[in-house]
Amino acid sequence: MLTQAPKGTRDMLPQDAHIWQTIESVMRRRAALAGYREVRTPTFEHTELFLRGVGDTTDIVQKEMYTFKDKGDRSITLKPEGTAGAVRAFLEGKLFADALPAKMYYFTPVFRYEKPQAGRLREHHQFGMECFGGKSPAVEAELISTLLGALSDLGLKGLSVNINSIGCPNCRPKYHAALKDYLGGHLGELCEDCRERFDRNPLRVLDCKVPTCKELVKDAPSTIDMLCDECREHFETLQKLLTARGIPFKVDTHIVRGLDYYTKTVFEIMVSRGREGLALCGGGRYDGMVEQLGGPATPAAGFGIGVERIIMELENQGVTLPQAPLCDVYVANLGEEAREAAFLLCQKLRDIGVKAEEDVCGRSLKAQFKYADKIAARYIALVGGDELARGVVKVRDLSTREEGEVPLDDAAIQIAAML
Ligand code: HAM
Repeated sequence: MLTQAPKGTRDMLPQDAHIWQTIESVMRRRAALAGYREVRTPTFEHTELFLRGVGDTTDIVQKEMYTFKDKGDRSITLKPEGTAGAVRAFLEGKLFADALPAKMYYFTPVFRYEKPQAGRLREHHQFGMECFGGKSPAVEAELISTLLGALSDLGLKGLSVNINSIGCPNCRPKYHAALKDYLGGHLGELCEDCRERFDRNPLRVLDCKVPTCKELVKDAPSTIDMLCDECREHFETLQKLLTARGIPFKVDTHIVRGLDYYTKTVFEIMVSRGREGLALCGGGRYDGMVEQLGGPATPAAGFGIGVERIIMELENQGVTLPQAPLCDVYVANLGEEAREAAFLLCQKLRDIGVKAEEDVCGRSLKAQFKYADKIAARYIALVGGDELARGVVKVRDLSTREEGEVPLDDAAIQIAAML
């Protein structure tokens, strides 16, 4: 127990840090190029925010939230997604009063009490982008294009973009009625969850993974056949923009997403092969959410992508991200009297930007050399009693095995010049 992380959670170990850092820097770069700046919001929020924002009929809110009372008897919930917190910050920070659009991105841990399996964790990490104040479908096109650019920078290929429109408060009631009409005739064939969804949230039946439900919804009426003029035009323009940008996409009328706040566009980017049904990214437009949480009517759209799923897909596609060398110079010391000089040389090297390490384990010289090899140091600088007496440091190039000497008082600069 003590040495096992809680079920559904994962460590990022130091040897994998470069993967996370590369993903983050690629995402940050692409987001900044599109004018998005970082937002950081708390890991926990008032439970009410998610009930109102995400929707209390969703599986996430009903079954998956980590909710608890704090010592002040407030109901607190660990973020089950990133958008609600971003909307709250947009409102609390009165960003709606600034020049719009307000564009922001985040990296955040996300907590969902799900059944852990491949690609499904109880704590995962999301990169997300949210744009407030833009009603044009150019926003969704920008989001998709920016993300695909970043994923391609990472070396991923063959991802599919699926889009749909689930309409707006004007046209959705008509669609709901038509869908309920259809599903009502087949209630007995639906799975237990879907029979419940039929009353609470019939749209969710459309993306049920149970084979009998999947079969049944094939003939269900489709949202895009019932869009109002505004929603249809929005959806058509989005498709034109994606086509103009050369982004292949598929219209998938069964995408409805697991959160209640979406209006008009919803989209998912799916992993390439295998792992059927696993989304890398999910997002869409949520024009009603800011107002619903007490702010001025503000159109908005965004997406979230799971970092662990990006890593899984990198592995799947055999993409390895390069790792910077761990150590340029290993400063070895021979004997007690050389320890202080070795320490100082190591610190001076770091001061001038050289990755340097020294022995902190009291190893023998032989063991220090072995360790230097193990961490793939490029050079060894040897500080020994004999060298100290002569005021020099011995330097060995570990790839060529060539050796030379440099004066101790100028050693850091001279070694740095060799790199
Ligand atoms: P979501 O589709 O629930 O959307 O999650 C976004 C992404 O997070 C998924 O596509 C997946 O990569 C990852 N993810 C979700 N659940 C798990 C899990 N249990 N384990 C590992 N990865 C997971 C949202 O959360 C929305 N807030 C996205 C959004 C932003 N919509 C508009 N703005």
